Amino acid sequence: MMVNAKDFIKTAISEIKETVGKHRVISACSGGVDSMTATFLVHKAVGDNLIAIFINDGLRREGEPEFVYNTLTNLGINTLLIDAQKEFFQIFKGKTDAEEKRKAFRDKFYKTFGKVAKEEKVKFIVQGTIKADVIETVQGIKSQHNVLAQIGIDPLSYGYLILEPLRELFKPGVRMVARELGLSKEISERMPFPGPALSLRVLGEVTPERVAIVRKATQIVEEETKNLGTFQNFAVLHNDKATGIKNGKRVYGNIITIRVVVSEDAVTAKAKEIDYNILFKIANRITEELPSVVRCLYDLTDKPPSTIEFE
Ligand code: XMP
Repeated sequence: MMVNAKDFIKTAISEIKETVGKHRVISACSGGVDSMTATFLVHKAVGDNLIAIFINDGLRREGEPEFVYNTLTNLGINTLLIDAQKEFFQIFKGKTDAEEKRKAFRDKFYKTFGKVAKEEKVKFIVQGTIKADVIETVQGIKSQHNVLAQIGIDPLSYGYLILEPLRELFKPGVRMVARELGLSKEISERMPFPGPALSLRVLGEVTPERVAIVRKATQIVEEETKNLGTFQNFAVLHNDKATGIKNGKRVYGNIITIRVVVSEDAVTAKAKEIDYNILFKIANRITEELPSVVRCLYDLTDKPPSTIEFE
């Protein structure tokens, strides 16, 4: 649906005001364009009755907790940064199945919010759920971390009601709303990043050490591809290993896949045809800057048959 952003914002603000009344609200803000836009929209409607919550689950990209915290506070939004790294890593212990990991993340995510909602005495939480999230979860393509009611889980079981002001929009519509709200380009044009974050990009068990590898590889991929104008650019750490040579010695080391895709709305995507020199530089940097990595691959698959993320 193409939206008239001005009308959308006007209607959304009055609907939010009506639903929320004088209650206090918390917003689950991961820093992506969807949750930032949803948060800012609700802030416009309820002002200081909103607290944005950024949970540091230990799965974010380099510098992300600081970036999100500073951006929200600079927008004049009350913000709370919650350090839950230990608890999140705890739930991933021994889990290797993609859906099991997604469900564990979702459960921890909502429990953490439920706790904050209780402490802050709020009734509503805001989420940046968009239409593609709902469609893909309902179709059973994946358990999107932020879709509950649509698949029959009552958010009240976690202790609150959910506000999803963007649920009828696709990504391009969200960006239009973000621009109309006056959010900076850094936010409105931000590359999408999934709620369960790097946990989807560490195949197999999610440990702090393995997340650190994919975080650094992601930073390298993002740096080297930032001018391509692509939809999503990232790195994935494989669960299996491969033979390689480091410092003249045979080693059995990690494998990283580089993924760069072009897409409008994430419902379909194309693997980007990239200049070989760029790919070569990324592979060199990753294997040099990450001692445990011996092999870099480039993913040539479109969506479908692949998905954008590996899990
Ligand atoms: P897939 O991998 O299904 O992803 O092609 C489509 C788009 O959605 C993002 N994604 C998620 N975003 N929570 C999110 O907030 C999730 O659980 C989730 N899973 C995938 C993915 O990065 C891509 O942009």
